[in-house]
Amino acid sequence: MRISVIGTGYLGAVHAACMTRLGHEVVGYDTDSAKVDSLSRGVSPFFEPEFGAVLESALATGRLRFTSSAEEAVRGAKVHFICVGTPQQLGSDAADLHFVDAAVQMVADVADCDGLIVGKSTVPVGTAQRLADRLNRDGSRLELAWNPEFLREGLAVRDNLHPDRLVFGVTSQHAEKSLMEVYAKIIDDGTPYITTDLATAELVKVAANSFLATKISFINAMAEVCEVANADVVTLSEALGYDARIGRRFLSAGLGFGGGCLPKDIRAFSARAGELGASDALTFLREIDKINMRRRDKVVTVAGTLLGGNFLGKNIAVLGAAFKPNSDDVRDSPALNVAAAMHLKGASVRVHDPKAIPNARRQFPTLTYCSAIDDACRNTDLIVLATEWDEYRSIDPRLFLSLVREPRMLDARNAVDYDFWSEAGWQVYALGRGALNS
Ligand SMILES: NC(=O)c1ccc[n+]([C@@H]2O[C@H](COP(=O)([O-])OP(=O)(O)OC[C@H]3O[C@@H](n4cnc5c(N)ncnc54)[C@H](O)[C@@H]3O)[C@@H](O)[C@H]2O)c1
Repeated sequence: MRISVIGTGYLGAVHAACMTRLGHEVVGYDTDSAKVDSLSRGVSPFFEPEFGAVLESALATGRLRFTSSAEEAVRGAKVHFICVGTPQQLGSDAADLHFVDAAVQMVADVADCDGLIVGKSTVPVGTAQRLADRLNRDGSRLELAWNPEFLREGLAVRDNLHPDRLVFGVTSQHAEKSLMEVYAKIIDDGTPYITTDLATAELVKVAANSFLATKISFINAMAEVCEVANADVVTLSEALGYDARIGRRFLSAGLGFGGGCLPKDIRAFSARAGELGASDALTFLREIDKINMRRRDKVVTVAGTLLGGNFLGKNIAVLGAAFKPNSDDVRDSPALNVAAAMHLKGASVRVHDPKAIPNARRQFPTLTYCSAIDDACRNTDLIVLATEWDEYRSIDPRLFLSLVREPRMLDARNAVDYDFWSEAGWQVYALGRGALNS
């Protein structure tokens, strides 16, 4: 089947390349011509494990192309996936939908045959119906469906080709049939699929992200209690996780969630519920957000205490800039947020990350970046482990003793072996593992 993918960022580029694995002929379109050039050359504009190889092999088959020409992408395609961004609006919690609106309008204007527009972007409930109504009103020959995407950065290729489930929000059997044709191979593999209305499909995505955010903030709220009760949140989450009704995943206390999805999605969901007259139902999401943001403040406060109450003249290494390991995405990154806050308080902050330094530098040009871990840590008064890359878990604290000015480690991700570091002579503080100086 001939498919167009509109918007080739983290989601769209991966989706476009993966669709060729299902046997389709795909043209990816983006308004960012630098991204299009890079993808066309087989060079991923972002770091995503496995994506480079999938992109290269998809281009080699001749079934994948990228273009900045809307006509080239849209004409002749039967299915058009909308994968453009839905960032938080400036000055509001609501989602900014102007990219989605523009992308759908562009496809409607340019398409030269019947077909299906399939939204994959994460949108507030009601968006798909509004867009479908607009297409109908304009007498478009295109139909609209919503097929939310659940891939995780760092595991994007695997998640896109082997999802836990597929969700099809449709208004006709024809739309359902088209989507089943697109995903035939994945459905044949035994992946469950759920066909539903547009609103439910949109809600599945934001409800899933809200649940995950809630789990993370729940354990971080427990960490706050552990910090005052002199208890250990790592042991607490291990013990909770054995309960099959609770489960261990997304129950790691630390610096909280960030990135281009969870924070803006829960805010937009709350804002939308308010517009629909159901704000009471989601007031808890505001608390989830607050708990999450408080972890960032907590790390800065603890760092100040560990440094004797003064950041001025202190050297701090921040290990990690990406919002999570195995990604170079720094959107709303807790690590960078903490690094910038300590820099503003007068510390000299050096940031290391295995993949995200170019993106981090663009966002926070005034911070100092190091490409080697030991360069970041040399002569420091404090190391803050802010993103749990494997590289940091395997640091030998004995070897780093002679490198630093003061052997202090603030483990904001509960990533290192606390006892090993303490026995090696370090003052270690890990979030949620008891009171400071206990
Ligand atoms: N990144 C993820 O892990 C992920 C997972 C699931 C869902 N989502 C959702 O997918 C959507 C896209 O997220 P992303 O992370 O890929 O964002 P992104 O910012 O990486 O990519 C969006 C792309 O859309 C392009 N674009 C904007 N307007 C356009 C237009 N009119 N025509 C063509 N291209 C246009 C931009 O240039 C950009 O390359 C969001 O709604 C997000 O919430 C993202």
